[in-house]
Amino acid sequence: MKDKLLNEVLREYDAYRLQQQEALKQREAEVLSALPELASLRNSLVTSLAQKARALILNPGHSPAFEQEEQLAAQMKKKEAALLRENGYPEDFLTLHHRCPVCRDTGYVGSLVKEKCSCLIQQLLDRTYRFSELSNLDKENFDSFDEDVFPDFPLPDTNMTQKQYMKQLKTVLWDYQEAYPNNPRKNLLFTGKTGLGKTFLLNCLAKAILDKGDTVLKVTSYNLFEHLFRSSFGSIKEDSFALKDRIFDVDTLIIDDLGTETRRNNFTAEELFNILNERYLNQKHTFLSTNLTLADLRECYSDRVTSRLFDTQNTMILRFQGQDIRLRKQRS
Ligand SMILES: Nc1ncnc2c1ncn2[C@@H]1O[C@H](COP(=O)(O)OP(=O)(O)OP(=O)(O)O)[C@@H](O)[C@H]1O
Ligand SMILES: [Mg+2]
Repeated sequence: MKDKLLNEVLREYDAYRLQQQEALKQREAEVLSALPELASLRNSLVTSLAQKARALILNPGHSPAFEQEEQLAAQMKKKEAALLRENGYPEDFLTLHHRCPVCRDTGYVGSLVKEKCSCLIQQLLDRTYRFSELSNLDKENFDSFDEDVFPDFPLPDTNMTQKQYMKQLKTVLWDYQEAYPNNPRKNLLFTGKTGLGKTFLLNCLAKAILDKGDTVLKVTSYNLFEHLFRSSFGSIKEDSFALKDRIFDVDTLIIDDLGTETRRNNFTAEELFNILNERYLNQKHTFLSTNLTLADLRECYSDRVTSRLFDTQNTMILRFQGQDIRLRKQRS
């Protein structure tokens, strides 16, 4: 199962690379026919390199100097850039485009020991866990954050309006992602009633972290514990890319809507403690959102969980407050 998925993804990587190489060839053909000067520069470099190669074959003991060609290549690059600019082509027109600059779309990094690139791990994560909710990130991210959806009415207990407050929260989280992954506090806990923008800001963070090349798993608490329960008690056959492992080794785990899961005696509290504790010991980031108050959380989960969650040395607790903007949108 795992290999089948891996092969499928790698085949797509290969196809994408081939497609990009083909597109580059076409762009080259277009430019070379439009700019004969560039074509003749390229030709002289190719001819010169071919002569050197022939000399090397005829006389293997002799090692020719390539200084002249290096100079020619450098000259050509400069000239190429200038010609493209002058003729209105984008700067990277004659460069191969990569989706992932780290592995150049091969899926693997490292020269001696090959390891999966984080982009490949993320692809496997997304496809294995259909409930991993990262599909909204093109709509919900720091660029699309719209402070005007929040009412400009004063909030009780603060000297700010909801809009000003959310603007400030956004800045705090923007700074957090700038410092990522070296944040002293690896956990974030968003608390607040429904429709206050918690999930939106979790998505902003998820996108920013993915863009840095780290892996992210975002699940609702309901789906997470449902899956864990069923895999512990037999009704899900786990493959070797098991959620149990991914929860611990993904760079950032996001648990949305803590408190909506089905309560199963100690099961949820124990599993949640294990997740928080293991990830804490491994210095990994875990972000949670909940509609529950801190007092509710204390009541629902064990002391071990809440002492981890409320440990302000490692957790930044952010309170969301004000009017439900989902309702507000509906009304207008
Ligand atoms: N900063 C924002 N800019 C634009 N739209 C937003 C913003 N924040 C929230 N929204 C929109 O408002 C609605 C409610 O936000 P969101 O789902 O994040 O609330 P929530 O606090 O997670 O609620 P719940 O507790 O019910 O899960 C969503 O449709 C979301 O897209
Ligand atoms: Mg939400």
